Amino acid sequence: MSERKILIAGNWKMNGLTKDAVELSGSIAAKIDVYGKEPECEFLVCPPTVQISTVAEIVEDTMIAVGGQDCHFAEKGAHTGDTSPYMLKDAGCSFVIVGHSERRANHGETDEIVLKKAELANTAGLKAIICIGETEAEKDAGKTIDVCKTQIGGSVPANATAENTVIAYEPVWAIGTGRTPTAEDVQATHKEIRAALAAKIGGEADKVQILYGGSVKPSNAKEFLSLPDVDGALIGGASLKADDFWAIAEATF
Ligand code: PGA
Repeated sequence: MSERKILIAGNWKMNGLTKDAVELSGSIAAKIDVYGKEPECEFLVCPPTVQISTVAEIVEDTMIAVGGQDCHFAEKGAHTGDTSPYMLKDAGCSFVIVGHSERRANHGETDEIVLKKAELANTAGLKAIICIGETEAEKDAGKTIDVCKTQIGGSVPANATAENTVIAYEPVWAIGTGRTPTAEDVQATHKEIRAALAAKIGGEADKVQILYGGSVKPSNAKEFLSLPDVDGALIGGASLKADDFWAIAEATF
């Protein structure tokens, strides 16, 4: 039996105003309260940067952790519009997502940049959720495993541990589309990702959580979350509704 806990992580992306963030984080906290005992999984919400402090205050005395959606690889300086991992930590974060495919595609982030972000996030005391995953063209060319191995090799710091790193496998073609790989494919890919991680960091790879992301919703959560090498979910669209986010978590109880 794996000692890895299931992590249910919501990536709110660029959605909602402060009042929505207050309502959503409050509703999730209330659901945990009503459940009445410690849920069997870990919870994380990643609000838009400007709402982090507000959300952190709301969930302060709950088991819900807060994360950023991105950070810079420099501690401080002339980087207009960017956010240092130290600022995220200061605002109440314990996690940060790095290398999401939307950042890789829309902001030209390479494996090298993602690695530097993860390293500084760790130094700042944040756990980095390092995202990887193939595009549709890469999948069609049969390159899923190769792409994931290259991204693990290039984006994961050499001193990554289960304490400072989480991996999220998110096929780009499954994000926000309602399409997903089969459970069999997800398990096979996660197994290869863990092997690639082991090649880089050794036996510690067995302890690192590997999340699946891409159109996770209440109706498919159990299927994915019960796979032996799937240790949680990174949820976009369905994390914006407290009922759906909770229903996904419930699939692990
Ligand atoms: P989705 O997004 O759940 O809306 O597919 C997942 C993600 O991009 O993290």
